[in-house]
Amino acid sequence: MADMMKIRVDELESGMVTADNVIEPGSDRVLLLKGTILDSVMIFNLKERYNVDHVYIKKAFSASTISDEMRAEINIHQSLSTLKSVFGDDDGEPITEFTDESAQHIKNVTNDLITSLYADDNILLKMHQLQSYDDYTYKHCLRVAMMSVTIGKSLGLPDNKMHDLCEAALLHDLGKRTIDVDIIRKPGRLTDTEFNAVKKHPQNGYLLLRKNGGCNEEIMNAVLMHHEKYDGTGYPLGLKGEQITYLARIITVADVYDALTSNRPYRQPWSVAEAEEFMMGGANTHFDYDIILAFLNAFAPYPVGSKVMLSDGRTAKVISNNSNVLRPVIKTMDGETIDLYNDFKYLTLSIKALDKSDIKQIEA
Ligand SMILES: [Fe+2]
Repeated sequence: MADMMKIRVDELESGMVTADNVIEPGSDRVLLLKGTILDSVMIFNLKERYNVDHVYIKKAFSASTISDEMRAEINIHQSLSTLKSVFGDDDGEPITEFTDESAQHIKNVTNDLITSLYADDNILLKMHQLQSYDDYTYKHCLRVAMMSVTIGKSLGLPDNKMHDLCEAALLHDLGKRTIDVDIIRKPGRLTDTEFNAVKKHPQNGYLLLRKNGGCNEEIMNAVLMHHEKYDGTGYPLGLKGEQITYLARIITVADVYDALTSNRPYRQPWSVAEAEEFMMGGANTHFDYDIILAFLNAFAPYPVGSKVMLSDGRTAKVISNNSNVLRPVIKTMDGETIDLYNDFKYLTLSIKALDKSDIKQIEA
């Protein structure tokens, strides 16, 4: 017993490991096996569905002994699994309702993500682990939420708004799961009819949330408005400037950047430099200028620890970031440390692309 402790279900945290089988009260049914790493869905079910009172947890894996970085990785993995349970696979049956359980799951993921982002500054490195070839809606929504919260933090949003922002970003494309999968995953150009069906996804998401009633007005409006453009040329309502809510304007920036830098069935991902240039070019037309500035400040496309390919053919690791996020301090594989921004000797040397060859993918 020395290596385990009894924890009340209210005090369980994602990442803790069960030290004994968890049995359903009043029966002998095993709910979780000894050695299970708990996630927010499991904790929710133990508490709300099975009325379990306490669980034995391995001491070595109690929350306090897990490093912030490891906890962040566990949280991302678990957030992804939880989102998958809410959205389902893109090639599965379209969804027709947003349940109370889903609403609670989204709130749990929000809490986990915001905690991770505050605990681990370098969480954006994890985003690259979420960019696989098979890009499901729930993965895109998780990346957009991570990026939105990062922008929100740099804009100094208060806590309650950060939570609304994260929930809305996690749910922004929920409506895509109401649309025929053959259209969503079509590898070629969409016909006008198909494109009009896709353009319905903001309203469809909004209506699912409104029917459920578990999300506030701010969240629902951000979902509805995430394809509006600052100059009024977006959809579905053609809103302009500050008619588009602040949270929606933040999510739009994260959404477009993620769409450009991700695999799509019909094209290769854009490079970070190309995508950043596009974003800058869209300030005041597609996007809110101040939010673009916050995005460029907050978002280091080459996070510390990432591997990059240089224009001279060498590879290097990013050691720290500069105010110009496209030109960080790097250490080449042959041991040379180069400050790409401040060292004028290297003006002609640049980063060509992220080297994703040994990035381990996080899957649900
Ligand atoms: Fe969307």
